[in-house]
Formats: sequence, structure tokens, C-alpha cells
Amino acid sequence: MAEVSRTLGAWNVVEDQSIGPPGRISGTPKLPVLAKKDVHIWAFRLDPQPSSLARFTSSLCAEECQRAARFRFDHHRNRFIVGRSVLRRILGHYLDSDPESIELVHGQHGKPAVARQLKGGALHFNLAHSEALALAAITRAGVIGVDVEQIRSLKDADELVARFFSPRENEIFQKLPADQKPAAFFNLWTRKEALLKATGDGIAQYLNRVEVSFLPQEPARLLSLPREFQSESTWSLHELTPAAGFAAAVAVAAEKPLVTCWQYAGRGLRGSLMEDPV
Ligand SMILES: CC(C)(COP(=O)(O)OP(=O)(O)OC[C@H]1O[C@@H](n2cnc3c(N)ncnc32)[C@H](O)[C@@H]1OP(=O)(O)O)[C@@H](O)C(=O)NCCC(=O)NCCS
Repeated sequence: MAEVSRTLGAWNVVEDQSIGPPGRISGTPKLPVLAKKDVHIWAFRLDPQPSSLARFTSSLCAEECQRAARFRFDHHRNRFIVGRSVLRRILGHYLDSDPESIELVHGQHGKPAVARQLKGGALHFNLAHSEALALAAITRAGVIGVDVEQIRSLKDADELVARFFSPRENEIFQKLPADQKPAAFFNLWTRKEALLKATGDGIAQYLNRVEVSFLPQEPARLLSLPREFQSESTWSLHELTPAAGFAAAVAVAAEKPLVTCWQYAGRGLRGSLMEDPV
């Protein structure tokens, strides 16, 4: 297998020349090495070439295959298969393991984690998807959460913010011009959800107790956290820009992590994130 790495904007592109898993991406010096403070974000498309689907499926465990079989619609099933399969391929690179041999376990609220850590300390990861776009976040620095959402106009955005978010957030949001509300809403949503996915808690009971910056052009910042969480100084929050029209964020329990972004462009996947952003 040969891989080519080039930089496109702030995203490094890895073109995997083999047609999907099983097998590893690792093996060339151009692939990223994960130092202690590093956070690596991988973006990839979830729509497979029909001829590659069987190869993606072959790296899934029995439980993932059963879950895949329960999807009603083919495109949802295929996206789940590609998401888990490419995630395993990426994890395999960092764990120096074959993707299909990685055992995953799930926390109380469903957060997946690596069952047995093989080399170099605990590897934390999280996965998110929106439409045909997926993000995987990987680090050894601390627990991590990532979220991505396609920015769209919601008829009930004002009501949702008033009902579920904090009074301060609601006051600022309601005064925004209408054309700024969709981006502001999904900044709020993805930044909070990234943090709550990092802790592994369900999002519902904390939505109004985690406060974040969210105005368009405002850098991502954590403004307040529930007391039961660790102190704010141990958390970092970063905005991500994987494709036009998407809001995304990563939260990690570490101070000043070094975030670098990668695009996984496997031959078995349809389209390109930058040229055709979903
Ligand atoms: C889990 C949750 C954050 C997912 O949100 P979403 O916007 O639908 O989906 P996203 O694309 O952001 O993330 C989905 C991925 O997050 C991961 N994930 C699942 N549960 C998670 C959790 N509790 N915390 C962090 N990550 C989680 C999975 O990898 C999942 O993708 P996969 O199933 O394809 O592998 C949200 O549904 C939630 O808060 N659930 C709470 C579950 C809960 O409390 N259940 C109570 C029963 S005990």
C-alpha cells in the first residue's frame, strides 16, 4: 500500500491507495506520529463506492455487523459501516494493530473506547458524523469529544435556545440578526456536545450548564462548566472547519493541546471533502 500526504489549507490530505480496510494505513514516514500533547483530527466522507462496501464491512466486529443489519435505510447502514471501518483503520495506525483486531468497549452512555491499550499509553478517541461527513479525534492527552453538524436554518431555533440553553446564551442569541442565527446555533450545539461527548455523559441534562462562546467569528471558548466537572483550566475547546457549511468542535481534557487536521481520502470512498463538501 502506498500513501501520499499533501497539505490543503490547514488540512493534511492522506490518500490511501488501497481500496478500504482490512489492512493498515501505517508504514510511511509521512503519516502523523502522535506526541503526548497532540490532538489529531481526521475528516473523511462516509459514502462508499458500491464495489468497496464488502471490504469496509470485513473489518467490523460481530456486534458492529449486527448493529449495521438493524438500519432500515441502505445509506444509513453504509455510512455506519464506513464510519466504524475507517475509524478502525485510523486507530490501527496509532495502535500499530490491524483494524479488525481492535476490541472496542462502550461506556455507560454508549461512548466507545479501546478495550486493551497496546502501546504508548492510553489512546483516547471520539467519532462524530453529519450527513456524509465524519470526524475522528485522536489523542493521548486526555479524554476527548468531537462533534460536527451541517449548518442549516431551523424553524424553532429561537425556542430551542430559550428552552435548552443558558439564560445568558439565550439573551445574546435572540438579539442576533436572522442571517447569523444558523451558524451561531450550530456553534453553540457542537461546542457543548463536543465537551459532553468528551466526558461521555448524555448531553440532555447538561446543555444549559455548559456555557461556550458562539458568535460567528468568535474563537471557541469554554465560559463555564458544572461544578461536578473538572476545573475549566484542564479543558480545551477548539473550532474545526472540515468543509464549507459545517460547524464542528473538539474538546479535550488537557491544557494547550496541539491540534492538527488530516483528511482521509481512501480509494473506496466517493467524492472529496474539499471539492464536493457533502
Ligand atoms: C451520544 C450522542 C452524544 C450522539 O450524538 P449525535 O449527534 O447523534 O451523534 P454524533 O455524530 O455526534 O456522534 C455519534 C458517535 O459518538 C460516539 N458516541 C456514542 N455515544 C457516545 C457518548 N455517550 N459520548 C461520546 N461519544 C459517544 C459513537 O462513536 C457514535 O458513532 P457510531 O455509533 O457511528 O460509532 C447523543 O445521542 C447523546 O447524548 N446520547 C446520550 C445517550 C444517553 O444518555 N443515553 C441514555 C441511556 S443510558
